[in-house]
Amino acid sequence: MKNVLAIYPGSFDPVTNGHLDLIERGAKIFDRLAVSILRNLDKEPLFSGLLVEYARLREARVILRGIRAVSDYEYELQMAMMNRKLNPHVETVFMMPAVSYSFLSSRLVREIARLGGPITGLVPAVVEERLRDKEL
Ligand code: PNS
Repeated sequence: MKNVLAIYPGSFDPVTNGHLDLIERGAKIFDRLAVSILRNLDKEPLFSGLLVEYARLREARVILRGIRAVSDYEYELQMAMMNRKLNPHVETVFMMPAVSYSFLSSRLVREIARLGGPITGLVPAVVEERLRDKEL
């Protein structure tokens, strides 16, 4: 019997309700789902390991990524193809979050929080609290 582990990787800085939506959708499809916080080298220049190497160690068959809009597609396609080249045994699967989260990103949440704007409904309550604490 197949027991498919999917990795849902991202920088999750911070995790948003859009991420949670995708986790719920992914958990319904795959036998197991590992949410993996990884470093995006464009966002922080520090080497910490390849995603596909982590997938190999965990024996994961799938990398799950969310696509909100066409604008995400080019970057995601490039990453998926490179990951396939690095490890042909892992398939990238794209899922779309609810349309109500199609405009939501961690970067915008950070910016709004930094400028004292409302982030209720965009992130889980615990993240909202932590962001508010950070501002003080
Ligand atoms: O949430 P993000 O920032 O869009 O996630 C990007 C992430 C962390 C999944 C990607 O940068 C990544 O896989 N980083 C780990 C290093 C790696 O494997 N890089 C090669 C990608 S082809």
